[in-house]
Parts: sequence; C-alpha cells; structure tokens
Amino acid sequence: MKSMRIAQLLRMPADGAEAVVKGWVRTKRGNKNVAFIAVNDGSCVANIQVVVDPAAIDEQTMRQVTTGACIRAEGRLVASPGSGQGVELQASSIGIYGPADPESYPLQKKGHSLEFLREKAYLRPRTNTFGAILRIRHAMAYAIHKYFNDKGFYYLHTPLITGSDCEGAGAMFAVTTLDLNNVPKTPEGKVDYAQDFFGKACNLTVSGQLEGELGALSLGQIYTFGPTFRAENSNTPRHLSEFWMIEPEMAFYELEDNMELAEDFLKYLIRYALENCREDLEFMNKMWDEGLIERLNFVLEHDFKRLDYTEGVEILKASGRKFEFPCDWGCDLQSEHERYLVEEHFKRPVILINYPKQIKAFYMKQNEDGKTVRAMDVLFPKIGEIIGGSEREADYGKLRARVGELGMNEKDIWWYLDTRRWGSAPHSGFGLGFERLLLFVTGMGNIRDVIPFPRTPKNAEF
Ligand code: 4AD
Ligand code: MG
Repeated sequence: MKSMRIAQLLRMPADGAEAVVKGWVRTKRGNKNVAFIAVNDGSCVANIQVVVDPAAIDEQTMRQVTTGACIRAEGRLVASPGSGQGVELQASSIGIYGPADPESYPLQKKGHSLEFLREKAYLRPRTNTFGAILRIRHAMAYAIHKYFNDKGFYYLHTPLITGSDCEGAGAMFAVTTLDLNNVPKTPEGKVDYAQDFFGKACNLTVSGQLEGELGALSLGQIYTFGPTFRAENSNTPRHLSEFWMIEPEMAFYELEDNMELAEDFLKYLIRYALENCREDLEFMNKMWDEGLIERLNFVLEHDFKRLDYTEGVEILKASGRKFEFPCDWGCDLQSEHERYLVEEHFKRPVILINYPKQIKAFYMKQNEDGKTVRAMDVLFPKIGEIIGGSEREADYGKLRARVGELGMNEKDIWWYLDTRRWGSAPHSGFGLGFERLLLFVTGMGNIRDVIPFPRTPKNAEF
C-alpha cells in the first residue's frame, strides 16, 4: 500500500481505496463504539480524521492514541459526513510509532500562548500555527530562488567567517580558537591574533554585500541568501542575533533601477504567497491577524511612495505627533517614524532615499551635495524597515577618502577597494531581511515566531 502525505490524501476521491496515514495525533474523541482521531503530518494545516471501532483494536494500543503520539493507521478512504473534509480514513488497524504520555507532553492542550511556545521551541512546529509559518517560510525561500533564477541572477555563496565589517556598526561575534582563559598578548598588551586560527581577528559576517559586490562586478547580477549575525543587544520584536538576509547586487544599476527591482521583488513574493500558500494564510488570517490577506493585497495594488529623507523628516516635524525619539535632519529614523510615514501619512509602502551620509555605511555612493548618499530603505506597514540598500560608491578616490574619514582600516578591506581600481562600474544592491518579510507575510508580531530556532540576547537554548 503506497503511503501518501495527508495533503494528498485529502484530495483523493472517497472511493474506498486502501490508504495509510502516518502522523501525530492532534485530538481523540468519541465513545466506546467509535473513536475519531485527528491526525496531522505537517504537510498541510488540515488534519485527516481517522475513524475506528475501538473494539477492533487492542486496548493497550487504543490507550496510547493520545494527543502528541505518533501513529500509523491503515484502512479505506470514505466520504466524511462530519469532519468538514471530503474524505476520512475508516481504519481497520492502528500502530503506535511513539506514544506521548499525557501526564508529561507539554502541548497537551490547545491554545497555548506564543510566549509559552517560545519556551518549547523544540516542539512548537507541531502546532497548527508554527506548521503554517514554517511552510510559508519554505515557500518564500523557494520563491526567492525562483525569482532570481528566472531573471538570470546567480546565487553566490559568500563567507560567514570574515575579517571585514560591512556595516561598521561594530556589533559582531568574534570567531576564535584562542584559549579564553589564557589569551596570548602582544608586547603592547593587546590580544595577539597572529596566534589565532586565521592569523588575524575574525568575526561572523553581518552582511554578504562586500563579497557580493565582487560577484556583481564579474558575473553581472548575483544574489546571496544566507545567515547573518549581529551582536547588538537589541531586544525588540524586529531584531534577531542570527537572521537570514537576501542580498542582490547588480552591475550597471543606478538607484532608480535598484528601487524598481526591490518593489518588483517584494510584490512577486507577496503574490507568490497569496497564490501558493492560501490555506496557511487563511489560517493565519483567522487565528492571528484579521487584516492579513487584505494587507497583502493592498501592497500589491499600490505603487510604493518614493521620497527623499529630507522630505520625510519635514513631514514628521510637521505632523504634530509626539514621538518617543524626536526627529530632526540627521537623525536615524526609529520604527515609530517609519511607521508614521507608511501607516498614517502615505498609507502605503515608502521608499526613502538620499539619507545623510553620517548615518549610513561607508560604501554608499556620495551625492553631489556632499551631505547625502544614494541610500534607499523600503518601509512597510507594521514592520518599518524591511529592505536597506543603496547605489555603491564606484569611484576609487571618493571611496578611499570616505574610508579615511571614518577612521576605518584600509588593510581590512584592501581587496574591496581594489575592485574600484580595475574595471569599476556603477552598481547597486540591497538587503531584504528574510524574517522581516515573514513577519509581514504571516502577520506575526514577533520576529522570534517566524524562525524555527530564534537567537536573541541570552537565548540560544535550542
Ligand atoms: O539595513 P541593513 O543593515 O543593510 C545591510 O546589511 C546591507 N549590507 C544590505 C545591502 O545593501 N546588501 O540590513 C538589511 C536588512 C534590514 O532592512 C532588515 O530587514 C534586516 O536586514 N535586518 C535584520 N533583521 C532581523 N534582525 C536584525 N538584527 C536585523 N538587522 C537588519
Ligand atoms: Mg538598514
């Protein structure tokens, strides 16, 4: 008998064909004449109903059919009068793969809080909510590769261990094999990294962009999609210490082209979710966020508003709103400012460009005014910044001058600077935070709930 996943079984005709169901028991109810067992195998949010005459199964087995247990049921697919599904399994035999003692199984009840489930992150994929989120996460990862592949971009693998600091925020995780109880020192009393594994100080990467640019200046159009690490101590619903980022980088793209691509890309992903994750989105809409599907459609139907940072700040100042962090020209926008512009002022996604150079990274193309750079942040409802990017400084002299101004060490990025010495070209790129995208697409409010194993300050248990 061929075994099928429940998503497939539920689409089969109720013609009495033999079938096997393998999965985890969600609930069991009934009486001594008939038992109804709801089984889920992770293939879809719906359960299949297994109907069985308890008298036909040995008592010990029936007793072990409890919430959380993993079972196998064999029988025939028949029309289901009551379960809301087309078919159910009329079972003639049941086997137990793994029982789940009702006294100790933590997910015995329904309706646990998200906070409780975070503490049980190793089991939460067995809930409907996390099943739906993880399926959507998978579909979005697939759609990202499909989008770029179809557009002729190459997937470039950039290193996770690096000696350079792309964003310059100074919040990186050190990678070392030095004995922390007996750190070798130089004659000046500094850590002697010459004795470390790589012979120099290394960290986990905060972004694949610098290496991505080398790819753009050779293959033309590349993207990266990998884990990224930031050691900022920011305990917010939008920050993780380990998150995934998608970073396309394109030769011959100016800022306008970059904005076009970012908008098209986000809309493609949202449309893909609406077309391919319908059941899971409807579930999330019903359970967690009644405005979800409407919001996804809304973004598809509207052009993103493009405006200068300077104009954005003027709007904020004229708003009469009392922000927790007051904002003046030169300030780094907080999510309260970003969300005001998106949710209240323009009522649609916003692409803010031409930021003051002092709040943006060294690699951004400098504008003629000497004050701003060709940066772009894409701001989304409920999220704030979902994408950060820019046109890159392609001029060797200007880039070196900026590195000098910021007191950065040229020795750490000589190879990056060298790309501007030979065959430099205008180019642009951006970074999409994968989990920020998932917050938007699933309607979840906390970024810890859209990654299987969240890493945040003081939290790396499982
Ligand atoms: O704006 P960021 O820092 O930009 C870069 O890293 C550039 N090198 C990208 C590029 O141009 N290739 O980060 C990009 C995006 C943010 O817009 C946000 O969506 C996400 O990454 N992000 C985070 N997501 C979760 N947790 C964090 N701590 C994040 N920091 C940034
Ligand atoms: Mg940013």
